[in-house]
Amino acid sequence: MAWEVLHIMLDAYSLLGVIHTSHISEGDARFPTGSGPDAAFGPLVGIGDDATEVSPPRPPVPRFEPASMEKAATMICYESIGTVRSPFKEVIGMPIQPIGAKGVQGVINIHPGFAEGLKDLDGFSYIFLLYHLHRTAGFSLIVKPFLDNDDHGVFATRVPKRPNSIGLSVLKLVRVEGVVVHVENIDILDGTPVLDIKPYVPEFDVWDADRVGWFEGKASNAHHHRSDGRFR
Ligand SMILES: C[S@@+](CC[C@H](N)C(=O)[O-])C[C@H]1O[C@@H](n2cnc3c(N)ncnc32)[C@H](O)[C@@H]1O
Repeated sequence: MAWEVLHIMLDAYSLLGVIHTSHISEGDARFPTGSGPDAAFGPLVGIGDDATEVSPPRPPVPRFEPASMEKAATMICYESIGTVRSPFKEVIGMPIQPIGAKGVQGVINIHPGFAEGLKDLDGFSYIFLLYHLHRTAGFSLIVKPFLDNDDHGVFATRVPKRPNSIGLSVLKLVRVEGVVVHVENIDILDGTPVLDIKPYVPEFDVWDADRVGWFEGKASNAHHHRSDGRFR
C-alpha cells in the first residue's frame, strides 16, 4: 500500500518533468541523500501505512534535486524529435559556429512519429535548428567565451554551457529524404538530441544590427577559431 502511494507520487513528479524514474539509480551523484522526495514532502515511510500490513521489500528510492514545489513548477520537460549525425565526435577542434563549418555535411534523423511535421520543409534554403547540448554539465553565469579573454555574462555569449543547455544553429538545408534532413554548415556534435526545427525566413529573421556588443571586431574570428574543452 505504502509503495503504491509512493509510486503515484513519483509518477506525478515524472509528469512534471522533475524526475525520470527509469534514469535515476540509488547513489546517483546528482540526487544526494536527503534531497529526494522525502525532503520535498516529508518522510516517505508511513505514508498510507496499514499497521497490519507486511511491507514488501523496498526497491531503491530515486533521489531528485528540487527541494520545493516552486522549483518543480518552473521545470520543463521536452521530448527530442530526432538526432544529429555529424562528423564531430568530440568537442576539441570542432567549429564554434556554422560560419566556421561551411560545407560540413550532416543529417538530422527525425523520429518516425514526427515525420508528418516535415511536410513542405524542403521549400526552404536554411533552417533554425534548436537542440540539447547534451555533453555539457553545470554552468557559470560569468564565462570566458571562445572568442574573448574577458569575462561576460553567459546570456551575452553563445557558449554551450548554460543554465538551459539549448543550442541554436542556422543550417543550410540540402534536401529532405523521408525522415532524414540533410544539412550543411553543421557546428554540432554527433548524437545531439534535436528539440525543434523552424524555417529561416529572411523577411522575419534578418535585421540591420548596428551593435554587436563585445563581439565587435571578434565575430569574424569564428570563421577559423576551433573549440577547446573549456565547456565540457
Ligand atoms: C559555441 S557553441 C555554438 C552552438 C550554436 N551555434 C549556438 O550558438 O547556440 C558550439 C560549440 O558547442 C560545443 N558543442 C556542440 N555540440 C555539443 C553538444 N551536443 N554538447 C556539448 N557541447 C557541444 C562545441 O564545443 C562547439 O564548438
